[in-house]
Amino acid sequence: MKILVTGGAGYIGSHMVKLLVEKGYDVLSFDNLSNGHEWAVVNGKLVVGDLLNYKLLEEVLLDYKPHAVMHFAAKVVVPESVEKPLLYYENNFYGTLNLLQVMKRAKVEYLIFSSTAAVYGIPERVPVKETDPTNPINPYGWSKLFSEQAIRDFGKAEGVKYGILRYFNVAGADSEGKIGQVSKNPTHLILRALKVAKGEIPYLEVYGTDYPTPDGTCIRDYIHVMDLCQAHLDVLNYLMSGGESEVFNVGYGKGYSVLEVIETVKKVTGVNFKVVTAQRRAGDPPEIVADPSKIKQVVGWKPAYNDLSYIIKTAWDWERSKKL
Ligand SMILES: NC(=O)c1ccc[n+]([C@@H]2O[C@H](COP(=O)([O-])OP(=O)(O)OC[C@H]3O[C@@H](n4cnc5c(N)ncnc54)[C@H](O)[C@@H]3O)[C@@H](O)[C@H]2O)c1
Repeated sequence: MKILVTGGAGYIGSHMVKLLVEKGYDVLSFDNLSNGHEWAVVNGKLVVGDLLNYKLLEEVLLDYKPHAVMHFAAKVVVPESVEKPLLYYENNFYGTLNLLQVMKRAKVEYLIFSSTAAVYGIPERVPVKETDPTNPINPYGWSKLFSEQAIRDFGKAEGVKYGILRYFNVAGADSEGKIGQVSKNPTHLILRALKVAKGEIPYLEVYGTDYPTPDGTCIRDYIHVMDLCQAHLDVLNYLMSGGESEVFNVGYGKGYSVLEVIETVKKVTGVNFKVVTAQRRAGDPPEIVADPSKIKQVVGWKPAYNDLSYIIKTAWDWERSKKL
């Protein structure tokens, strides 16, 4: 079975490609390398191309004729999306529209889409269910919500089965240590804390200690990247065995505060690094945690790495070993 992975040279996409190839799928990655890396595609072929290049995308899909598409390619930095909203709408929404049009031409039957908890904005309650209101608070979240709607309408009109996966905070790395997350100036807490532990960044900022949470810092649901990738495979199998198109939250349903994460990073790395308190950042919800019961019940997803220390350890092993 052939699967096209857009964004296959990126952090999550490269883990997905590795898992798919290990499971025996034929995989082709499509990535413009704007934030991806050729070395990250450890298995299968890579076409370097942009979703906004309709002609190339069409050529690739008509030639490869995938049975399914897993669509990870996107711009993903929230503050950048606030500064450059049109860039995000063009890349993420327009890019998705191009992909859908070409999927129709190539008669692709299944689509798995990387959405985000950012579509919920500031949730009215936690844990968040898929049926809760969506109200993004930044252009990144809107670009994903618009894409979700286009996929729903497209799926209905063209008979294409889709799974929309709303990820929470993805972290960790494959345990073989060949691939992992890379960023010079990361905004994700775990990666940033590891860079501070490594001495690449002088100290770690905690943005706000006066939130209405037990220790005053924000609470998030951290999921290991390989559990997330397994969820994609499970949803694809569910769709292929006759399951209905659905939206699924993918998280563990347990939140950790910023201070709890920092404590765990210090324990795992053995480094007592400097932490400073900073002002709240605009638009950070106090708490966002998934209710993953739908994907567990409907699809049978069984996470294997629900352990914050393990998530941090795999990210730390990668961070220390990578020669980039
Ligand atoms: N990392 C997280 O915590 C998280 C959380 C929620 C959702 N997501 C979603 O997961 C997906 C993957 O995120 P990631 O963290 O791996 O980011 P990433 O930046 O590492 O991967 C995205 C990849 O897409 C490629 N890309 C971007 N625009 C493209 C275009 N127009 N044409 C072709 N390739 C393009 C980039 O080069 C990159 O390799 C994204 O859709 C993101 O919105 C990530």
